[in-house]
Parts: sequence; C-alpha cells; structure tokens
Amino acid sequence: MKRILVIHGPNLNLLGKREKNLYGEVTLEEINKELKALGKMLKVLVDIFQSNSEGELVTKIQKSMGKYGALVINPGAYTHTSIALRDAILAVEVPTVEVHLSNIYQREEFRKKSMLADVVVGQITGFKVDSYLLGLRAAAKLVR
Ligand code: DQA
Repeated sequence: MKRILVIHGPNLNLLGKREKNLYGEVTLEEINKELKALGKMLKVLVDIFQSNSEGELVTKIQKSMGKYGALVINPGAYTHTSIALRDAILAVEVPTVEVHLSNIYQREEFRKKSMLADVVVGQITGFKVDSYLLGLRAAAKLVR
C-alpha cells in the first residue's frame, strides 16, 4: 500500500482556537480525521505528525526516506524561515506538497516568501481544510 506522511508544523495544534478568521474553526483532530477518511478512499495509508519543534520536524523528514512515497507538509511559520526544513526535503528526495490553510500571498510581506517553494512539487494555499485534502490528492498521484 502507498504510504503518505502528513506533517503539521508549529502552532497548528492550536487550530480551532487560534486566529479563526484566517484558519477556520476546525481543529487539528478534525482535519486529521478527514485526511484519514480521504486516505481510505484513495487507497493510501496516511500517517500524521505534528511538532512545534524545528529539529523534530527535520528528524521526521529524514526518517521518511524509503518509508513514504510522498509528503504533505504545512510548515507553519517555519515556511518563511527554515533552511533546515528545505535542506531535509532536498536530502530525502521524497516528493512533497506544501499546503497552507490561509493564502500566504495575500498576507504580510514576510509570509510571501516560502523557503520550501522551489524544492516542493507544488503549493496549495488559501483553501483552509481543503488545502490539506487537495494536497493529499496531489500526493497520492506523486507516490512512486
Ligand atoms: C500557515 C501560514 C503561516 O504563515 C503561519 O505562520 C502558520 C500557518 C497556514 O497554514 O496558513 O502558522 O502555514
């Protein structure tokens, strides 16, 4: 069975409570349920990981090598700062879809730059929960 890892970065554990106008009312648990259900439909096995720590995220990406056919990642604020996450994705060569709940290109200037943009296959940004679900659909097609 094809395996896909979904990675949630920092502060995404607070979804449903944080900045609801931007990120919606849905909790991370609810998003994860929807991802698992869609995974069943698409016949892919979906594992899910969340961390607030950049190092833990890097380690998880490193360990994805040979284990997962594709990654879906919402790197949260590390999107805009993390050369380490970028390098990890480059190192493992696992095709990756970058997703964001909000549209990062319609917000503050500093959010318009993604350190990952040119090492991922593509970005889905601005569709709230659907960004993840569209991201999973894209990842399912990328699995080698
Ligand atoms: C986010 C956008 C980031 O700029 C922000 O720091 C987040 C969430 C999104 O999903 O819209 O934490 O990645």
